[in-house]
Amino acid sequence: MKKLAIFAAITATLSINVQAFDVEAKYAQTCAACHATGVIGAPKAFDEAAWAPRLAIGMDALVTSVTNGKNAMPPRGLCMDCTADQYKALINYMAAPK
Ligand code: HEC
Repeated sequence: MKKLAIFAAITATLSINVQAFDVEAKYAQTCAACHATGVIGAPKAFDEAAWAPRLAIGMDALVTSVTNGKNAMPPRGLCMDCTADQYKALINYMAAPK
């Protein structure tokens, strides 16, 4: 029985690790396609000045923009499995200087 409990604890820890959201990796796989260079009018990542006017409209509005798409930005910003919280993390990541 004790062995089983230890096994269960290890499995639980592993699945938490698998599900942990890696903001840097997700940024590189999705948002970076446009935001790394700022093509087609995208606010450039890690450029505070580019993001200041965007942040001014509020985080919830920004999450809505990504989810629905905005002008040249496609819906979901190419991240089909991102949650609202993950979009928030990605936006905070891109809006801060690196
Ligand atoms: C295909 C290119 C492309 C990709 C991929 C992309 N974006 Fe964008 N994004 C844009 C463009 C272009 C704009 C500027 C839209 C405008 O205001 O005209 C933009 C604007 C934004 C804004 C500001 C929206 C607003 O209302 O001012 C946010 C926030 C944002 N992107 C987040 C993301 C996130 C998070 C990802 C990754 C999950 C992502 N984008 C992926 C092109 C892209």
